[in-house]
Amino acid sequence: MKISVIGMGYAGAVTSACLAELGHYVTGYDIDHRRINSLNSFKPQIFEPGLEKLIEKNCEIKRLKFQHVDDSDLDLGEITIITVGTPSDPNGSPNLEYIWKSVEWATEHLQQNSILLMRSTVQPGTGDLISTRFCENKNINYISCPEFLKEGEAVSDFFTPDRIIIGGNNSDAIEKVVDLHSGISSPIIKTKIIAAEMIKFASNAFLATKISFINEMANFCEAWGADVDDVKEGLGLDHRIGKSFLNAGVGFGGSCLPKETRAFTSLASNYGIKSNLLESVLEVNEYQSQIPFRIIKDVFADMNNVKVGILGMSFKPNTDDIRESPSIKIAQTLSKLGCQVSCFDPVSNQKSEEKLGSTVKFETSIENLTTNKNIILLMTPWEIILNSNWHQIFESMIEPKILFDGRNSLDPAIMKNIGFNYIGVGRGISSSHLDHLSW
Ligand code: UDX
Repeated sequence: MKISVIGMGYAGAVTSACLAELGHYVTGYDIDHRRINSLNSFKPQIFEPGLEKLIEKNCEIKRLKFQHVDDSDLDLGEITIITVGTPSDPNGSPNLEYIWKSVEWATEHLQQNSILLMRSTVQPGTGDLISTRFCENKNINYISCPEFLKEGEAVSDFFTPDRIIIGGNNSDAIEKVVDLHSGISSPIIKTKIIAAEMIKFASNAFLATKISFINEMANFCEAWGADVDDVKEGLGLDHRIGKSFLNAGVGFGGSCLPKETRAFTSLASNYGIKSNLLESVLEVNEYQSQIPFRIIKDVFADMNNVKVGILGMSFKPNTDDIRESPSIKIAQTLSKLGCQVSCFDPVSNQKSEEKLGSTVKFETSIENLTTNKNIILLMTPWEIILNSNWHQIFESMIEPKILFDGRNSLDPAIMKNIGFNYIGVGRGISSSHLDHLSW
């Protein structure tokens, strides 16, 4: 099939390349000339394992190309897929500005009986509104087919999704979207547009809830001296609970979980609903992100000039995305309080520097980052960081040589044997156990 995809961000670039890999003829559109040029030279401006290779292969066999929305030779094909961003407004509600613009542009150029497929995450009810306002009078069929891609694993998530959700009110259009996914053998749910939108929102809010749940358990473990990883193992073996998304840490970041959870709480009041549970999920998440601040406040009498090294700035490993990253939040908090903050990330140093400016120092190596620091915050467990020479890091630090393991990615016994004052999240060793330091 001939397909067009609008919005060449994380989801759009991956969707374009993977649909081409499935055998479709795909044109990716964007409003940013630089982004189009970098994609056509096989150099996506985003870091996503496996994406560059897929783009190069499919561009070379002419199954994939990228164009600017203002180009004259537009042919949107049978299906146009919207993958533009839906950032949050300051009050937390979804900002649909890019959605309206791309829908308007697409429906002006789509042929009769073609399909407008929404892959971006929009609040429930948006699809029916778009269908009524922009599609029905032009015989265009609206389909909601949300993406469930995790950054850093998006290419594999595309080809092996847990499920494909297709929301629509025209059976021929729904079957066409089933064909679009031929080659992927995951379960397909055909449902109403509003249900498809709710499934997406609810999925992210549930994942956020699961993470905040284990983080709250970690805080109890911290107080009672248990190790949350032992608790996670026992919980996860219950098939009704499952072990995934039960990793305690400094909280969830990224462009989706925080946004969709906040969307529920900010939209709830519009409908007279009290979203107590999800408000608490967000509160727990904020509390987790400030753990390093509480440790430093507990241990150091004067926070001024405490030398802090932050290992990892992306919101998770294998991505350069720093949106809602706990590392960015804690770097801002600590530098405002007078700490000397240095940062390192193998991929997102540049994006982080654009965000943080000169309030913190950026290092280009782990060794330089950790030298002469009082405390190291391991915030993003990149493989290259976990495989560091921790003996060398220990020797290069200055007292009290605290190592905070923000994602419980290290073995506490090994780190303590090296000599670190090791603190994890819910590992039964809190900063109160370090009161003998009283720096
Ligand atoms: C998420 C959803 O997983 C995906 O289905 C949706 O399409 C987009 O949003 P993403 O945000 O890319 O994907 O990454 P994810 O792996 O979900 O991690 C989100 C955040 O939660 C990260 O900050 C991660 O560190 C954190 N997390 C994840 C935990 O703190 N604990 C966990 O057990 C899992």
